[in-house]
Amino acid sequence: MSFPERVRIVEVGPRDGLQNEPGFVATAVKLALIEQLVAAGLTTIEVASFVSPKWVPQMADAAAVMQGVVRHPGVTYTALTPNLQGFEAALAAGCEEVAVFAAASEAFSQKNINCSIAESIERFRPLVAAAGANGIRVRGYISCVLGCPYSGEVAAEEVSAVVAMLDDLGCYEISLGDTIGAGTPGKTQKLIEACASRIPMARLAGHYHDTFGMAVANIHASLQLGMSTFDASVAGLGGCPYSPGASGNVATEDVVYLLNGLGIECGVDLDALVDAAAWISAQLDRPPASKVARALLARRNKEGCT
Ligand code: HMG
Ligand code: MG
Repeated sequence: MSFPERVRIVEVGPRDGLQNEPGFVATAVKLALIEQLVAAGLTTIEVASFVSPKWVPQMADAAAVMQGVVRHPGVTYTALTPNLQGFEAALAAGCEEVAVFAAASEAFSQKNINCSIAESIERFRPLVAAAGANGIRVRGYISCVLGCPYSGEVAAEEVSAVVAMLDDLGCYEISLGDTIGAGTPGKTQKLIEACASRIPMARLAGHYHDTFGMAVANIHASLQLGMSTFDASVAGLGGCPYSPGASGNVATEDVVYLLNGLGIECGVDLDALVDAAAWISAQLDRPPASKVARALLARRNKEGCT
């Protein structure tokens, strides 16, 4: 067991979180949220998704968000891009890092991006080439690494095969998406071991949705194996529009609380993060999904210092 000394959190709330809202969240609200996340110390923030607005209307303002973001030194503002068309739009909007997204399950690939896994890799090829020509790094996501909402069990070997494909393609980091939050710690560790036999652990990230309340346990299990990058969503916002019933990513507050407890650095100020969680939840007219945010807000209320 060797915990990393430092963890990098990739904040995906403005994208993975808000893409799943029933209503459209105003561009100004998205921009204000991103500012608060920067103020809390987050340095990688996925702010938008350049996908078809017919498929995901909540991300239709991707260009306005990417252009409207106030650039702070040391902060990277990233976006999802499913194909060359999306990449070109992201580039024109000033995006400096993009992510492609594949799946470990054929059924999910079809539902999410309307093509097979192999076809998706072919679609990414010209995108990665164009990104390289423009000095832009490409991250890769794999969905359904611990189960598929349409086809059920997914074997670790199916996931590690896609890891190898994204590695060959040139992705600098590969984020393992437990889209339906079905994973448990033992299974998560087996998955990571299979993937780390293909690429170094330092290039793998964990992206765990919290549908069954297991995400923090799965992060702890991943830390034990030395994984040191995790995606998280402020206030536990979100889900995936093509994964019915899936809840949001692990809440960033829950991850920071865990890391603080373990003495692992992440550079995020928990109080400022809870402010951001409370603010966006109020905008969406509901309490934060995160237990840590709720507990800290209740404590503040009791002390009369909200
Ligand atoms: P398609 O219909 O197969 O694409 O969709 P197409 O190339 O045949 O084009 C059809 C139309 O879409 C055309 O417009 C294109 O211009 C347009 P029309 O002529 O009909 O007016 N189009 C686009 N418009 C804007 N931006 C683009 C773009 N590409 C084509 N980039 C496509 C294929 C991938 C576009 C579609 O399936 C799509 O947008 N899917 C969205 C999927 C999505 O966003 N899912 C959620 C994000 S993934 C996720 O949440 C998982 C993750 O968090 C990890 C995890 O938790 O597992 C990352
Ligand atoms: Mg996700």
